[in-house]
Amino acid sequence: MHRSVAATGFSGLCLASALVAGLAVAENETGATSGQQLFEFHGCVNCHGAGGKEPVSKVVPELAGKPGDELYDKATKILSGEGGSEEAKLMHAAFYSPASCDAPPTDADIQMITAWLATQ
Ligand code: HEC
Repeated sequence: MHRSVAATGFSGLCLASALVAGLAVAENETGATSGQQLFEFHGCVNCHGAGGKEPVSKVVPELAGKPGDELYDKATKILSGEGGSEEAKLMHAAFYSPASCDAPPTDADIQMITAWLATQ
């Protein structure tokens, strides 16, 4: 059996996300959800790094401080499957493969995350 490099490389995502998910849910109950919490909850941090500033690989772009509109447009395109590059497929697959254990971020989540990233 051959496993793809992408599937093997990111097999740790589920555990990390599940741990953070516990925190984020607790915060949700108090109504204190922020872009940062959603960024961690959805596992964006696993590839883009803390604050979107420390990407884990050269194929992953830094997000911090870019214009919010631009980040929102790009993230929405990639997550809806429109991103054409191999890298974009990797990010998309992290949320939509059968191995993924999180619900994909909603439109409102992406808006909050990208607005927060723009201020980093
Ligand atoms: C599996 C790793 C991975 C995860 C998880 C991930 N990304 Fe990405 N992301 C990438 C890669 C790789 C690219 C580069 C795509 C390209 O160049 O086409 C990218 C590109 C982007 C871009 C476009 C940046 C630019 O300037 O071109 C945005 C915005 C983005 N990601 C936001 C997010 C958000 C928000 C999340 C969480 C909901 C997330 N990403 C989760 C790997 C990931």
